[in-house]
Amino acid sequence: MPPLWPAAGSPPARKEPPVAVVESSRTGDLPPSRTDDWWRDAVIYQVYPRSFADGDGDGTGDLAGVRANLPYLAQLGVDAVWFTPWYLSPLVDGGYDVADYRTIDPAFGTLDEAEKLISEAAEFGIRTIVDIVPNHLSDQHAWFQAALAAGPGSPERERFHFRPGRGENGELPPNNWPSQFSGDTWTRVPDGEWYLHLFAPEQPDLNWSHPEVRREHEDVLRFWFERGVAGVRIDSAALLTKHPELPDFTEGVDPHPYIDQDEIHDIYRSWRAIADEYDGIFVGEVWLPDSERFARYLRPDELHTAFNFNFLACPWDADRLRRTIDDTLAEHAPVKAPATWVLCNHDVTRTVTRYGREDTAFDFDTKAFGTPTDLELGTRRARAAALLTLALPGSVYLYQGEELGLPEADIPLSRIEDPMHFRSGGTDPGRDGCRVPLPWVSGEPHSGFGSDTEPWLPQPAYWPQYAVDVQSEDPASMLALYRTALRLRRETPGFGDGPMAWLPADNGVLAFSRTDALVCVVNLSGTPATLPSHAELLLASGPLTEDGRLPSDTAAWLRR
Ligand code: NOJ
Repeated sequence: MPPLWPAAGSPPARKEPPVAVVESSRTGDLPPSRTDDWWRDAVIYQVYPRSFADGDGDGTGDLAGVRANLPYLAQLGVDAVWFTPWYLSPLVDGGYDVADYRTIDPAFGTLDEAEKLISEAAEFGIRTIVDIVPNHLSDQHAWFQAALAAGPGSPERERFHFRPGRGENGELPPNNWPSQFSGDTWTRVPDGEWYLHLFAPEQPDLNWSHPEVRREHEDVLRFWFERGVAGVRIDSAALLTKHPELPDFTEGVDPHPYIDQDEIHDIYRSWRAIADEYDGIFVGEVWLPDSERFARYLRPDELHTAFNFNFLACPWDADRLRRTIDDTLAEHAPVKAPATWVLCNHDVTRTVTRYGREDTAFDFDTKAFGTPTDLELGTRRARAAALLTLALPGSVYLYQGEELGLPEADIPLSRIEDPMHFRSGGTDPGRDGCRVPLPWVSGEPHSGFGSDTEPWLPQPAYWPQYAVDVQSEDPASMLALYRTALRLRRETPGFGDGPMAWLPADNGVLAFSRTDALVCVVNLSGTPATLPSHAELLLASGPLTEDGRLPSDTAAWLRR
């Protein structure tokens, strides 16, 4: 192991970053996406609106901030933007506690602004994907407030999972279900009944066997498709339907009482019919270890795509990555769905930090405060991983700030907001470290995020060196690498959806071709690797050795 640096969040001594080598000079406007099925090979940029850019200067990112920066996204070269929830919400779980799907939270803007944003983005050739959270609502949603007021046995309570408790006086929760966050899954209300919440108590679960729940969500889908969105991300997509008797959970006994119930597919078939009317697409948040069960969600009459969390969680190891890539392609092939490739999102440790640690896998259970991190190493690997990811067959998700190589930030305890931290009893640092407001302009207050108002989460003191203006001037920056890679990926036949074939390579080296002419090589071994013979080096994530070999933790795209 190279020397480990202090924990994420300590100012990294940012050494000269490696140089992106571009031998072919390509300029001019981006050509349109290659296929009609744009989602089969799109690059989709995830915007966390609260932290993207603050247009009104109140310390919270908003839609005005996104609208002002659409040229930035267009220049980056993304095909679509996925917005994490922007609806009316008490923001107990960062907006995944929705109080009204048809209203934009005033902290972010108005419905009128959202409509303008969708059409302005389209003018830049950027499609919009919204986030729907069907498993649960906010406890402030009118339905839940009505259920509380109406009392036990009422039709209003039937939209949720209300039950009497167990024990002599109903003082014990109705079952033993584990939470998706740590902590309880049942909360007792003053009249003695309990309600189910797989996440925080402020996120009561909906009862998906209730026809009104289904109708309401179908209507919400239409509401957003009517406003011109191109797709919908489905939150917690495998959790909606529960075993009707809500039986206790027993480790190792199948089927699980609330994960991946067979009945769930019926919901997605009806959703697909709606999406098809609008030419819309779905991407499901489906965390399932069983690849056959996972692929069921991607049958031709269900979801178009689902996030590839196995790839996201995979350690920086050639054999493990190769196996994950093979498994991914094998599980998608029978249902003819394109794979997605994801390195991080708003729930997980930022890529440069994860790859700079001794354990380069991602696992919610092992997140801890103060994990030693070598950010220089992590950044080098993240650059190589970017070229690997963008060369694989299918679509790619990019989380805001990934293109800047932002590290996971240490958040002072007094400023942590994430319920995952509190529900763990304070042992889990939570997810705020990857949600810190973006740095735009190095010399401005709070790196140009908004105004001089303190942002909702504090930015580390070293944030200015990652600012967009600094990186735009630096041809060796992470931003320059992403801009070039996205442009080449769009212009060069063979990237995106389509076949790939592994090429012979030394131990610890991944090499594959996308067409006879196009090759990607990633060196995860400890020594420089000889590149296969090629006519042109299109792009490398760092400088080659003097004798033209590919150093450790470096990737290259070649034209043969
Ligand atoms: C998954 C989302 O990505 C996460 O941020 C949220 O906390 C849970 N689902 C609950 O909605």
